[in-house]
Amino acid sequence: MDETGSILGESLYSQKDVHLKAGGIIPPVAQRLHREHIARVTQEALDMSGVAPSDLSAVATTVKPGLALSLGVGLDYSIKFIQQHKKPFIPIHHMEAHALTVRMIEPVQFPFLVLLVSGGHCLLAVSKGVDDFLLLGKSLDEAPGDILDKVARRLSLISHPECSTLSGGQAIEHIAKQGDRLKFSLKLPMGQHSDCNFSFSGLRTQVIHIIHKKEGEEGIPMGQLLSCVNDIAAAVQYTVASHIAKRTHRAILFCKAKGLLPQNSATLVVSGGVASNQYIRKTLKIVTDSTDLTLLCPPAKLCTDNGVMIAWNGIERLREGKGILNHVENICYEPKAALGTDISGQVREAAIKVPRLKLEIKE
Ligand code: KG4
Ligand code: ZN
Repeated sequence: MDETGSILGESLYSQKDVHLKAGGIIPPVAQRLHREHIARVTQEALDMSGVAPSDLSAVATTVKPGLALSLGVGLDYSIKFIQQHKKPFIPIHHMEAHALTVRMIEPVQFPFLVLLVSGGHCLLAVSKGVDDFLLLGKSLDEAPGDILDKVARRLSLISHPECSTLSGGQAIEHIAKQGDRLKFSLKLPMGQHSDCNFSFSGLRTQVIHIIHKKEGEEGIPMGQLLSCVNDIAAAVQYTVASHIAKRTHRAILFCKAKGLLPQNSATLVVSGGVASNQYIRKTLKIVTDSTDLTLLCPPAKLCTDNGVMIAWNGIERLREGKGILNHVENICYEPKAALGTDISGQVREAAIKVPRLKLEIKE
């Protein structure tokens, strides 16, 4: 990537199909595939760009948070590369990269509110600068993409003719279009907590229980498709969307009360794999319309995990001269890493009541 954010060369080796067939990510398998492909993928991107390693200004690589075994492969490879070519190194925080991606597409000014929803993370934060975040809330257990993946797996959607190549979240979104969410009523998580944290594991338990009961009623063995898969998908998607919308609405009201966002033309940025869900986006649009915020989502390709967002984060840091290392002897990857300053306690104390919104999406 050049300093304006133009992509000069790009290469991708996706492990999605392998993980889908295995029914989830097996860390040693992910590590082996990273090892087998990292050199070729890097070389392809460089070849396409026409830029020699000696002409690079710096190398940016994800070092936190994430799967230890995968982070290790990327970091080892990068350290060898930068030592060989004598280049500065920019370690990248995965969530910071998700949050800043939008600025590659549109000149969104700081501060803005950001919601990150994916298979591994779920958080709300105020982005005050390239490396300056206030954390308003996060998931206390699982991430929304994770529960959509688990429900899709439990519903055996991989054997659904229209879903065999889709991720769990995509499969749920696809079949939910034909479903009636009102056929099943699911309890909205954390109704008693006036904060911006999230919880999805109780919802997963409720849904698994319903699937089990329906299998008994229909005499369907586990592993075969239930007749009501569409309705279950629609109910889960609606409940996930409503939970996310409610917490986001509270975050917006908290930011307004504390003057954390511009008074006019404040922005909500939504990113992460789950942000490519159109139903969830439309639900969030109802919230931003009612609070006079602008809703921005990067294109789906940049919402799911990608290398471009890491390069862009490198450019943002390079421009501001932040976190650029000339010595990498002590650098380590960090499987767990918080984002910014945690002010979720202040959000809880403010105990903001969120007005009811009609979150009904007509497809
Ligand atoms: O950001 P991402 O590529 O990886 C991390 O989890 O970090 O997100 C992948 C997640 C998976 O759980 C996948 O099921 C979910 O994003 N996802 C979706 C959709 N597309 C991907 N969830 C809901 N609706 C979608 N259309
Ligand atoms: Zn991610």
